[in-house]
Amino acid sequence: MNLSRVRVEIAPSILAANFACLERDIQAAEQGGARYIHIDVMDGHFVPNLTIGVPVVASLRPLTTLPFEVHLMIDNPGDFIEPFVRAGADRVYVHQEATPHLDRVLNAIRELGAEPAVAINPSTPVATLSEVLDLVSAVLVMTVNPGFGGQKFIPHSLVKIRELAGMRERDNGAFRIAVDGGVDLENAGDIVRAGAEILIAGTSVFGTPDAGGAVRQLLSRAQEALSVKI
Ligand code: DX5
Ligand code: ZN
Repeated sequence: MNLSRVRVEIAPSILAANFACLERDIQAAEQGGARYIHIDVMDGHFVPNLTIGVPVVASLRPLTTLPFEVHLMIDNPGDFIEPFVRAGADRVYVHQEATPHLDRVLNAIRELGAEPAVAINPSTPVATLSEVLDLVSAVLVMTVNPGFGGQKFIPHSLVKIRELAGMRERDNGAFRIAVDGGVDLENAGDIVRAGAEILIAGTSVFGTPDAGGAVRQLLSRAQEALSVKI
């Protein structure tokens, strides 16, 4: 595979933004070249934290033309697909661990006109996704245990990204590989060289004084890493 032709996309996670200034922060990320806005939805059950719900997604929708990717870290995700898609979700990530009916939920997302996508926790093997890879536009490899921003990237995740990229190559898969948790300028190069294309980043974007500049830097660091031959 010719790595220099891979197109890296940055999806800033607004979990690390200033919730009182979401319009300003989203527009800064957009100006820096963000490709999606990543929205973390947590229910206090599937993960030990509470964040954003449907009305917030609906209120943010008119503020940007960027697509929204909604990361559902909730129990019973099937109950909330329709409200989130109606509120403006363009892609919906559902955790493999959150439902025994993954196939049904992913199909429901597609039927509602959004992109189905699946996420896995650090302890979940990529092999558990083999039956749904044809249904999804993206697979999200969690590189921290979900629930909080600002955690440290788990290095073993690189092995999982490589394994997933290998499955994709072997089966001519069309899904993209997304990485979420602890992504920064230090590890962006290793992550894309392992086979991921979507970098979801919260703290390393919105934890800086210049979110747009941080998006630009992440993107160029990742693209540079792909253009270097080893
Ligand atoms: C964690 C969330 C992430 C988080 C990433 O459960 O899914 O999207 O916001 O934040 P950082 O980049 O700070 O690890
Ligand atoms: Zn997320």
